[in-house]
Amino acid sequence: MSRLVFVLNGPNLNLLGKRQPEIYGRETLADVEAECRKVAKDLGLDIRFHQSNREYEIIDWIHEAREIAGGIVINPAAFTHTSVAVLDALNTFDHPVIEVHISNVHKREAFRHHSYVSLRADAVIAGCGTQGYLLGIQRVARLIDQGARK
Ligand code: DQA
Repeated sequence: MSRLVFVLNGPNLNLLGKRQPEIYGRETLADVEAECRKVAKDLGLDIRFHQSNREYEIIDWIHEAREIAGGIVINPAAFTHTSVAVLDALNTFDHPVIEVHISNVHKREAFRHHSYVSLRADAVIAGCGTQGYLLGIQRVARLIDQGARK
């Protein structure tokens, strides 16, 4: 299986570090990307790291991942709670999908408790801060390695 993993980030995550730091912390998305690259390298994975505020771009990257990637780690941000289109795109992807939320969405407003993406995700990580991305990458690596051994 491909050892390329797409790490996808939805709307407003470009403001990570500045946006509600009491909820999302002070690390920037560039910091998160650098950490993801370090962890991925140690696990023998390549990553493509993207962020968009536009739903169609997230969908287009999922379509690209369909052709070339062995896994997706996605923080769909607010699209988690609204987007059937992102769910439908993920349903076209045949390899592991890990859903990540920096905050513990279950401790927050009721509208954050429902996730369309969770209907497809193989695992959901919430409330681990930005470490959740690293845990997601580790999990994808494990699943790719298990798939390769089958
Ligand atoms: C988030 C949680 C979502 O409810 C919110 O809309 C976000 C970020 C998180 O990482 O905790 O933008 O996905």
